[in-house]
Amino acid sequence: MYTPALLALFSLLANISCGARLNVKHELASRAETFDNPILWEDYPDLDVFRIGDVFYYSSSTFAFSPGAPVLKSYDLVNWTPVTHSVPRLNFGSKYNLEKSRAYVQGIWASTLRYRESSDKFIWLGCIEGGRTYIWTADGTNAAANNGEVSNWNWTSAGTIPVCYYDNGLLIDDDDTMYVAYGNTQIRVAQLNADGTAEVKNELVYEGPNQIYLEGARMYNINGTYYIFVTQPASAEWVLKSDSPWGPYESRILVDRIKGPLPNAGYSHQGGIVDTQDGVWYYVAFMDSYPGGRIPVAAPLTWTADGWPELVTVDGAWGKTYPVPVATNKTVPPPTGLDDFSGSALSEEWEWNHNPDDSKWELAGGGLRLHTATITTDLFSARNTLTHRILGPKSSGTFRIDISKMSSGDRAGAVLFRDTAAYIGIHKDDSTTGLVMVNDLSLTSGWQTDSTGRVAATGPALAANTTDLWLHIKADITPAFSGTTAVRQTTFWYSTDGTNYEKLGPAFKMSNTWQFFTGYRFGVFNFATQALGGEVLVKSFEMELL
Ligand SMILES: *[C@@H]1O[C@H](CO)[C@@H](O)[C@H](O)[C@H]1NC(C)=O
Ligand SMILES: *[C@@H]1O[C@H](CO)[C@@H](O)[C@H](O)[C@H]1NC(C)=O
Ligand SMILES: *[C@@H]1O[C@H](CO)[C@@H](O)[C@H](O)[C@H]1NC(C)=O
Ligand SMILES: *[C@@H]1O[C@H](CO)[C@@H](O)[C@H](O)[C@H]1NC(C)=O
Repeated sequence: MYTPALLALFSLLANISCGARLNVKHELASRAETFDNPILWEDYPDLDVFRIGDVFYYSSSTFAFSPGAPVLKSYDLVNWTPVTHSVPRLNFGSKYNLEKSRAYVQGIWASTLRYRESSDKFIWLGCIEGGRTYIWTADGTNAAANNGEVSNWNWTSAGTIPVCYYDNGLLIDDDDTMYVAYGNTQIRVAQLNADGTAEVKNELVYEGPNQIYLEGARMYNINGTYYIFVTQPASAEWVLKSDSPWGPYESRILVDRIKGPLPNAGYSHQGGIVDTQDGVWYYVAFMDSYPGGRIPVAAPLTWTADGWPELVTVDGAWGKTYPVPVATNKTVPPPTGLDDFSGSALSEEWEWNHNPDDSKWELAGGGLRLHTATITTDLFSARNTLTHRILGPKSSGTFRIDISKMSSGDRAGAVLFRDTAAYIGIHKDDSTTGLVMVNDLSLTSGWQTDSTGRVAATGPALAANTTDLWLHIKADITPAFSGTTAVRQTTFWYSTDGTNYEKLGPAFKMSNTWQFFTGYRFGVFNFATQALGGEVLVKSFEMELL
């Protein structure tokens, strides 16, 4: 039976695909009744989505960035903002502190988040480095009774399970039983005990033909039918369906190398499904979109009479535009804007490179004070680099930094951060305050430091009384996926008055490779090469769409 919302959706789609497209699109846009993919052009991979009342939630993976596993919130499935992180501090071993060793690319991979109404708890599960599965929980503050709203996020480590639930998807069933679908190639289901702290049963439920590689499991019970969505990495999404959580499961392919919605990006795959209050289902997936990372796209689903989901396509491809899923006046803040660090905590837009040394930073005195935390010549070994996702297709990030309390030997600045990186900043040496652009910092394929970079350009001498410097990075993360010849470039700029900017150094060519997983980010750093004691004050950061 079609709901009114579904009928409205069909009629809009019929209009879109019948020639009057431009007019219809224009009319709909003026009423803000359509949305464009990607829904949020930022690097939020391995997503898991669900809804409580009017609020959609979205959990994502973050590797060795800290805090980890951000949770985003939306009222319409299109506009999202990060509201918390499920893992406030990576408790997976000392290398996550970036002291004597490092954990680049390890840490939080595809993981799962759900709300359990019976205990009023959010539950996050993630397998770390193929070993144990870590559990973090947060009080729901009566989220179900409050239409999905959470008044205060407070995450607690709730132990580990000695099994790796690789790429897991949690299902809290109608009878409150907790199941975890997981694995690669061999898809398994585990049943947890009543409080979700241990495993009570575990079975292999599905293996594809010819041991095809499948992963990224998400598990659902829809009207008594069990579904496990799994991905064939970088290409297809499969749906497994059964009358029982334990199978046997039949399989069908939902999408296979589906075109669109962005040229040069990878195929949309590995996501989850969620329904609106009106009962319309959406598949939210991600696309490899390097150098920017992996970015979310959404499309409606319909169901066949025998219970298989089908993606609503536009001209045979993943639509660039679809009708807005939910008409609502509730909004979330946009990803752009100025952060003056005046809050009592860092906003959820920020993640450190590995766990920070909390004794070496504070929000005080009109900004974010970064004391040098490491003596090193290597940015990749320096603690307390603070990072921020880049908004695509093109955006700028501007850090206003007071450099007057740097010590001799200190290096501070604004970095375009990834496994190949570049920065604009200050090299403070004795009495000189050198304004420099440094490029070609790089990690090896085993994530050891290959190059600490080289000074590619030196700026003019700064006045001795210079306090504030504006460091500005213009980044273009339009997908230039591996195999294409296009290379995206970033330029570095500075200003001493916040108004007049000068470019410094050559454009930096960003890498399109996927192996680091995380896409490029803006970052701010301050490390010592000689002795600790210096500091910078980051007075503001502003991201603007270009
Ligand atoms: C957070 O949760 C822990 C464990 O349940 C509790 O001890 C603590 O008081 C809570 N803190 C806040 C600020 O709610
Ligand atoms: C589930 O059942 C409800 C109530 O009968 C129905 O409206 C809905 O379409 C069903 N959903 C799916 C995905 O079959
Ligand atoms: C949004 O607000 C407008 C103006 O107050 C109102 O007319 C409209 O009904 C509201 N829409 C929804 C979906 O609440
Ligand atoms: C810095 O010194 C110059 C002269 O050397 C002066 O014109 C300028 O106002 C000073 N700026 C500040 C912020 O004190």
